[in-house]
Amino acid sequence: MPSKKDKGKAKATDAPPKEITQKDLEKLAKDVDKIASKVQHRQEKALAKGEPIKEKKIDPAKEAEMRKKIEAMVQALSNMEQTGAIKASGRKDMGDHKFWNTQPVLQHGEDVTEEGPIDPAVPRDQVQQEPYPLPKEFEWCEVDIQDDKQIIELYQLLTMNYVEDDDAQFRFDYSAPFLKWALQPPGWRKSWHVGVRVSSNKKLVAFISGIPAAVRSHKTLHHLTEINYLCVHKKLRSKRLAPVLIKEITRRSHLEGVFQAAYTGGIVLPTPIATCRYYHRSLNPKKLVECNFSRVPRNSTISAMVKKFKVAEQPSTPGLREMKPEDATQVRELLNKYLSKFDVAPVFETDDDVRHWLAPTPEVVWSYVVEDTKTHKITDFFSFYTLPSSVIGNDKHKSLNAAYMFYYAIDIPEKEAADSYDTARYTKQRLTELMRDALVLAKQADFDVFNALNLMDNSMFIDDLKFGPGDGYLNYYLYNWKCRDIKPHKVGLVML
Ligand SMILES: CC(C)(COP(=O)(O)OP(=O)(O)OC[C@H]1O[C@@H](n2cnc3c(N)ncnc32)[C@H](O)[C@@H]1OP(=O)(O)O)[C@@H](O)C(=O)NCCC(=O)NCCS
Repeated sequence: MPSKKDKGKAKATDAPPKEITQKDLEKLAKDVDKIASKVQHRQEKALAKGEPIKEKKIDPAKEAEMRKKIEAMVQALSNMEQTGAIKASGRKDMGDHKFWNTQPVLQHGEDVTEEGPIDPAVPRDQVQQEPYPLPKEFEWCEVDIQDDKQIIELYQLLTMNYVEDDDAQFRFDYSAPFLKWALQPPGWRKSWHVGVRVSSNKKLVAFISGIPAAVRSHKTLHHLTEINYLCVHKKLRSKRLAPVLIKEITRRSHLEGVFQAAYTGGIVLPTPIATCRYYHRSLNPKKLVECNFSRVPRNSTISAMVKKFKVAEQPSTPGLREMKPEDATQVRELLNKYLSKFDVAPVFETDDDVRHWLAPTPEVVWSYVVEDTKTHKITDFFSFYTLPSSVIGNDKHKSLNAAYMFYYAIDIPEKEAADSYDTARYTKQRLTELMRDALVLAKQADFDVFNALNLMDNSMFIDDLKFGPGDGYLNYYLYNWKCRDIKPHKVGLVML
C-alpha cells in the first residue's frame, strides 16, 4: 500500500556496498524496540504490583534519539535506493536538487541557529502578478470542486496517477467526497486548487492544492498554506512540470499574504523537519495476504493470523459514542490542550474548524468521544479517516479499505497530571483502551487495515495493539521557515 509515500520495498539495483544493509538496520531498530518494550513491561508490572522499579528507568530522550538515528539511517538508505540516487560509488549527491536548491528551504546540512523566515514577506503589489509560463500546449485552470463534473475529473486524475507503492501494486484512491472535504475547510480558496489542462482538448493533466491552516512550530503560530495532492499525469513525468506547479501555488499563496507552507512526502527533499514511520494493524489478514500487502510469516498460517488479529465484537469504553457537531466546543478545547505538548501541531482556532475536520462525515471521517455519564463532560476523543487504495492487477481484489489514525485527545485526571511518570502511565493505558475500541469500530465498518504513523503518543500503543512497522516513511517539511529538528513523538500534525 502506498503510505503517501510508503514506497514499498527498496529495489536492490545500484545498491551500496553491502557492509550495512537496510535489513541489518531494520533488524537493529526491531531489537531496540524489543529491548525498550521488555524494560517497559517490567517497569509496568512492578508498578502494577506497587513494587519499586529495580532497573534504571529508560531515559526517553536517549531512547528516542537512538531510535531516530537508526530510523533516519534506514530511511536514508531506502530513499537513496528508491530514487536511484545511490551511485555506483555508494555516495549520494545530496546537493543535486536543481529546483529545491533555489527555494527558501533549509538546505541539506545547514544548521538552524535561529528559527524564522528565510525570505521576508512582501507587499501584494510586489508579488509577481502573472502566472508562471507553462509549455505552450498547456494552460492553467482553477478546478471548481463544487462542480460535479470537475470533482470527477480531479478524482480520475488522482485515482489513475497519484501515489503508488514502489512495486506498483497499490495506488491511493481518495474518493470524490474525501477530496471535497479535504480541499474545502473554512477559509478555503478556489484560486489554490490549481490545475493544468491540455489547451487543445482541456484534459486535466496536473494538479496541486493549498488550504489555509493554523500550524504551530515550536513557539511560533503560522497561518500557512498546507500543500497537498501534487500530481502530474504519468505520461508527462520528468518534464519539470512539478517545479512550475510548486512555484505557481507559492505565488498564489503570496498574493494572499501567506509566506509559509507545510507539506509532507515520502521522498527526501531539502530538508525534513521530522520523519515519521508508518505502522499497519491488520484487520482482515486473509485479504491482506491475498492482495500481497502482508505475508504469512514462516511457522505461521492464515488461521493463526486470523486468530491473532481478531478484535472484540463491541467497543468497551464506558460513555463512548459518535461525536456530534454540538460537541465541537468541548472537543476543540480538549484537543488544543492535548496538542500543545507537541513541537509541530495544528491549532483549531474556531468551532467551525473542528466541525469541518472532526465531526463525522459519512465515508470520510469517523470520530468518537467519551462522555462522562455523570458530568456530561467530554473526556476523550479520537478519529480516523478513510483512504482506500486501488489494488493494481489483482484478480480477486480491486480495493483495499484502509483507515488512517487522525486526531485524538485525552483529558489527564488531576491525580495523574501532578506527576510526569503518572501522566505517561495514564496516557499509555487510556490510549491503549481507546485505540483498541478504534480498531473494533474500524473492523465493524469493514476496514481491512488500520494505519498510523509513529507520531503523537502512538508509540505507546502500537506494539500492544499489534501494529507492525511498514517500510514507508513520511517526511514533514516547512517552506520558508527555519525550524529545529522535531522527533516523531513530538509531531502533532496529521496531513491527509
Ligand atoms: C510528484 C510528481 C508530481 C513529480 O513530478 P515528476 O514529473 O516526477 O518530476 P518533475 O520533472 O516535474 O520535477 C522534478 C522536481 O520535482 C521535485 N519533486 C518530486 N516529487 C516531489 C514532491 N513530492 N514534492 C516536492 N517536490 C517534488 C523533485 O525533487 C525535482 O526537483 P529537484 O531537481 O530540485 O530535486 C509526480 O512524480 C507524481 O505525480 N507522482 C505521483 C504522485 C505523488 O507522488 N505526489 C506527491 C505526493 S507527496
